[in-house]
Amino acid sequence: MAQEDVFKKLVSHCKEYGYVFPSSEIYDGLSAVYDYGQYGVELKNNIKKYWWDSMVLLHGNIVGLDSAIFMHPTIWKASGHVDAFNDPLIDNKDSKKRYRADVLIEEHLAKYEDKINKEIEKAAKRFGDAFDEQQFRETNPRVLENQKKMDQLQERFAKAMNDVNLEELRQIIIDNEIVCPISGTRNWTEVRQFNLMFSTEMGSTAEGASKVFLRPETAQGIFVNFLNVQKTGRMKLPFGIAQIGKAFRNEIVARQFIFRMREFEQMEMQFFVQPGTELDWFAKWKEIRMKWHQSLGFGADNYRFHDHTKLAHYANAATDIEYRFPFGFKEVEGIHSRTDFDLSQHQKYSGKKIQYFDPEMGESYVPYVIETSIGVDRMFLQVISASYTEEILTKEEGSSDSRVVLKLPSVLAPVKLAVLPLVKKDGLPEIAENIVKELRFKFNCQYDDKDSIGRRYRRQDAIGTPYCITIDHQTLEDETVTIRYRDSMEQERVKIGQLTDIIDEKVNISTLLKKL
Ligand code: GAP
Repeated sequence: MAQEDVFKKLVSHCKEYGYVFPSSEIYDGLSAVYDYGQYGVELKNNIKKYWWDSMVLLHGNIVGLDSAIFMHPTIWKASGHVDAFNDPLIDNKDSKKRYRADVLIEEHLAKYEDKINKEIEKAAKRFGDAFDEQQFRETNPRVLENQKKMDQLQERFAKAMNDVNLEELRQIIIDNEIVCPISGTRNWTEVRQFNLMFSTEMGSTAEGASKVFLRPETAQGIFVNFLNVQKTGRMKLPFGIAQIGKAFRNEIVARQFIFRMREFEQMEMQFFVQPGTELDWFAKWKEIRMKWHQSLGFGADNYRFHDHTKLAHYANAATDIEYRFPFGFKEVEGIHSRTDFDLSQHQKYSGKKIQYFDPEMGESYVPYVIETSIGVDRMFLQVISASYTEEILTKEEGSSDSRVVLKLPSVLAPVKLAVLPLVKKDGLPEIAENIVKELRFKFNCQYDDKDSIGRRYRRQDAIGTPYCITIDHQTLEDETVTIRYRDSMEQERVKIGQLTDIIDEKVNISTLLKKL
């Protein structure tokens, strides 16, 4: 099945099984805004807990923060967001549709990459085991030609973006004959800058109201609290402040489900270090964060770093951790060495000294910062994409011949176990209910006695429940139950008294944390 089809199915699965709903659906939805359903919210909370514990529990020198979404408007002037948090927009005069000029060009670049990959796939099939991809890339004339065109365009595009040259961006679109996907024409307007911040009014009267912004990142809440946390927590450098919270961006091209949203959540950590040590810390945080992703078992091949060659003016190193989504490798997390830019800017704009007195050096300075910034929703999409599996079955009583199963890491699964009486009589439901009463203090449990056991297994597979406990007539005799494992569908007979230990070992968050 084509990857786009898999993705479409995954999106409908998320809706059908209570993971993600379009926002305001009964009013026909609100573009690029989503709600998390009964299972979605549990998965999201588990992802956040895994991130939080890996930062705050595992590092004695990282503490948490929960700063407000509304902040003084000057913060966004100081951070550069008022002047420079822009997307270059272009309209097609025929379809009246608006696009991000950079995205149109990126999509055009991706077409060259697709052409190259198709040539490689074809050749790999033709040559079998003898195929040498590198040699093919270096010698095949069609691959070489497409690679050359792609490199030239990439270079021209990067320069235009770096110089914020809007005319040149438009010219690239014209020169490459990029058409509007709706009208099919090349009737383009000029390119204009569009600020991505949402604003609103704070205060009750029109005259007294002041314009405030909905934060486009959580990071600034950390920077402006640097001194509060450092002083009250008696923190010594190096130390970090971690925060999880909502962020808002008026994204123009908001697509691919929850990948790019207008309201989303970030998990950000700012790590304050002595100037001059920042690149060592940058390398350390790259490694730590990649390990965190890979600990979930989705396959090392599905991740890569994308080191930035063109850096923002305040950064001296930056990389993205990209995951192979069904629509290609895309950024999940950014790691940035932000120098002393943010703290210095807030020092300048607030007029307050924001410095750290280093007792070992005997001097004060503005610390440098390494930032790790990951979107909760993108991480959610990574987990769901990696877990969504369609399987053809050959056995299992009462089963249909295929199943959709979310092979979620057990630690992250919304429901850890379902307790299922085989029949709704003979005292089996009562035993099942007692098991739930006992285990619910430790795990998210579900009781289900409707439909055949095969259908109940399918329902639990579809929401990703790793363990199903079945109570049958033998339970009445010897207090044993069967435990069915979601991924292998194997069943094992165990004593009721063993359940807590068996399940806890697999679903306890410390199992994941210990891998880090
Ligand atoms: N403080 C740095 C910062 O915000 P960013 O690269 O703009 O950097 C960091 O965003 C992460 O936030 C991204 O890697 C992505 O996971 C997530 N993110 C950004 N914009 C998003 C959006 N519109 N929808 C969902 N997630 C988004």
